[in-house]
Amino acid sequence: MARSSTTFFCQSCGHEALSWSGRCGGCGEWNTLVEAPKAQATPSAKGGGRGAVAGKPVALRDVSAPPVDRLRTEISELDRVLGDGLVPGSLVLLGGSPGIGKSTLTGMALGNLGAAGHRVLYVSGEESAAQVRLRAARLGEAALAVPALAETSLEAVVATLEAERPAACVIDSVQTMHSGRMTGAPGSVGQVREAAGAVMEVAKRIDCAVILVGHVTKDGAVAGPRVLEHLVDCVLFFEGEKERSFRTLRALKNRFGATSEVGVFEMRSGGLVEVEDASARFVAEASAAPGSVVLSSMEGTRPLLVEVQALVAPTEIVPPRRVANGIDRNRLAMVIAVLARHGGPSLAGADVFVNVAGGVRVEEPGADLAVALALVSAQRGEPFADPAGRPLACFGEVGLTGELRAVGHADRRVAEAIKFGLRPVIAPAGAEAPAGADPQTSLRAAIRAALGRRRGPVERAA
Ligand code: TYD
Ligand code: MG
Repeated sequence: MARSSTTFFCQSCGHEALSWSGRCGGCGEWNTLVEAPKAQATPSAKGGGRGAVAGKPVALRDVSAPPVDRLRTEISELDRVLGDGLVPGSLVLLGGSPGIGKSTLTGMALGNLGAAGHRVLYVSGEESAAQVRLRAARLGEAALAVPALAETSLEAVVATLEAERPAACVIDSVQTMHSGRMTGAPGSVGQVREAAGAVMEVAKRIDCAVILVGHVTKDGAVAGPRVLEHLVDCVLFFEGEKERSFRTLRALKNRFGATSEVGVFEMRSGGLVEVEDASARFVAEASAAPGSVVLSSMEGTRPLLVEVQALVAPTEIVPPRRVANGIDRNRLAMVIAVLARHGGPSLAGADVFVNVAGGVRVEEPGADLAVALALVSAQRGEPFADPAGRPLACFGEVGLTGELRAVGHADRRVAEAIKFGLRPVIAPAGAEAPAGADPQTSLRAAIRAALGRRRGPVERAA
């Protein structure tokens, strides 16, 4: 009988086993064994190190690094998140929940690259060529010109890549690729790793930039893209609420650019449209109602104004509900606790809902103050808008002792708010408070400033 060409290894300790079992014999963890092809012994490894030729290290300054021409997708939000376009030969993982628009975005990108004269290839393992065509028809002529292949066999895809030698290729999705050399079902950890590894090998050889599309479930834990994160050069995450039209694209890892960049898109009938002036959109939608505050956040190198909304409703339920959309639940819990101890209302007997409008996610500590002030406003049932109806803008991290801590790029945050007529901006008192800021040292003081602002200058003087 032919010996099996695969083996099983533990994802947590690396223990190797000949057959699968529920529990790793090495570390005793459950459900950590995954199937992987046996490593081929290389000739030098066979020699056990003896007789192998020693490598010669080179000073980094003497390493030749020819400047690479990046492939611009002409979708400026995507290019910016990638760090100015795709790097030839690189592997990009684009994750996101189903229906968010991954196929749309990649289809548009390939269409633009094709129109610019690059060879492109769209591999669909999820949809038939006819279905891909239907989508492309909505996206326009450029997307219709993209050569597509409906295929799930990994070996066939690799062979096609070698024959076609495209400059950019999309594999939609990596979970549908199936290698005949392995027994696992498509989408299993072993298959996904094998697919990514094989594609990476050929991509580097033919200098093709590959975008691997991957589905993630809500918790992101299912055998899928997460196991590839260390393997690929760049991990992009496409998110937003499916029912809402706004989508954000962010880089979680990028070997060729900043990871904090965010692109904002809107899903329309003709595909994704870039939202270049996202602040204008979000501020225009902001209301001057109780519980609404505008947060001046930084998304990568770009300031972004978003509306933070809160609702506080008395409840009998124990423990009361804390629902957070667009911000971290733990940070919400912390802000609620600090409010209760340092100058804010106690929300112990109330359900609390906090929402970042527009389906945006804010993942920076600078959001704390906006959440706190939105909660205060909601609890009191009083808007923080000024007498002219303009919403209150703020930012700042709230510390556990009730102090307001500085966050990065205060000047740009304030400038962005002023651009939309929102001033003064309640901000942490820093070394240099930018003009237009209303610097405060503590949460208590910030709440007082917000309440004072509401009354307007005339009443305040009285
Ligand atoms: P899709 O790119 O297929 O999502 P994914 O590949 O991430 O699963 O697109 C998902 C949704 O976008 C789908 O419900 C239809 C909608 N859509 C539009 O609203 N306008 C369009 O032009 C296109 C192509 C799709
Ligand atoms: Mg899709």
